[in-house]
Amino acid sequence: MNEMTEGTLGGRFTFPGTSLTVQRIGYGAMQLAGPGVWGPPKDPDGAIAVLREGVAAGVNHIDTADFYGPHITNQIIRQALHPYPTGLVIVTKLGARRPPDKSWQPAISPQDLTDGVHDNLRNLGLDALDIVNYRAMGAIHGPAEGSIAEQVTVLAELRRKGLIRHIGLSNVTAAQVAEAQAITDIVCVQNSYNLAQRHDDTLIDDLARQGIPYVPFFPLGGFTPLQSSTLSDVAGRLEATPMQVALTWLLRRSPNILLIPGTSSVAHLRENLAAGQLTLSPQVLEELDGIAATAEAPH
Ligand SMILES: NC(=O)c1ccc[n+]([C@@H]2O[C@H](COP(=O)([O-])OP(=O)(O)OC[C@H]3O[C@@H](n4cnc5c(N)ncnc54)[C@H](OP(=O)(O)O)[C@@H]3O)[C@@H](O)[C@H]2O)c1
Repeated sequence: MNEMTEGTLGGRFTFPGTSLTVQRIGYGAMQLAGPGVWGPPKDPDGAIAVLREGVAAGVNHIDTADFYGPHITNQIIRQALHPYPTGLVIVTKLGARRPPDKSWQPAISPQDLTDGVHDNLRNLGLDALDIVNYRAMGAIHGPAEGSIAEQVTVLAELRRKGLIRHIGLSNVTAAQVAEAQAITDIVCVQNSYNLAQRHDDTLIDDLARQGIPYVPFFPLGGFTPLQSSTLSDVAGRLEATPMQVALTWLLRRSPNILLIPGTSSVAHLRENLAAGQLTLSPQVLEELDGIAATAEAPH
């Protein structure tokens, strides 16, 4: 049974059909690589400290990809945390590669996906991956329709071989989720979503009805951190930071939302983990709900 209360780290959630239970506030590791998600971080010891402090504080859900760095982020996770504590769930993703020009290119052939699994296993130091998201490349501003059946079928085959335990999706449309579910069980969906970008409201509610977690990437706005006078006003009144309010709003938005805020800073990590202890009144939630309407008005 999933806990709907917030409490420390937002309560717990079990990925459907699995024995994997995580705290609702987890950690996204993308920020641990160097600038532009490329190369080593400026402060490798700081990156290790962030991971160790998160896990010591109870974080047991880490999101990563072998194409962060590339390879670097997974290698830092391994250096910081291997042998991994019992109960730590590392979720990775496949579907992209980083050529030397530092761009993000699709890597979606059966061979690409198989190689991607082996890269993750090697760099994380694992025999099997807990959850692998197929990350569709989509369009510049988000997911694009188109069949993902071939890629999901390849992941299902890699699961049969024991290299993957569970399959999720990322950067996908509702139709793609349904297409994938006709092929295999889907245990999570990871799309771009936050206070200001709410294109997935309907999808979140559909997944909630199925007990499937929705994991927003860019929960704090990603490369363009959230900025809103309403958010700042609310945060000031609650003696919290805007980022904490943005995270607490996500926890309250739906009980199937799991958080993976990214940071390279121990101070920001502590701030983000404390978001589970903030309370938002119905009036404040209503005020915050108005931010998306304002943010999306010009489009
Ligand atoms: N599936 C996908 O396609 C996809 C795409 C993007 C990301 N992701 C995953 O989602 C995770 C989260 O996304 P994200 O890291 O890109 O974006 P995010 O969590 O929305 O925001 C990260 C940015 O916010 C800053 N930040 C974090 N906590 C802060 C705080 N308390 N106060 C002020 N600034 C703060 C970080 O800088 P500092 O380092 O200075 O704290 C960083 O610049 C990633 O780490 C990655 O694992 C997945």
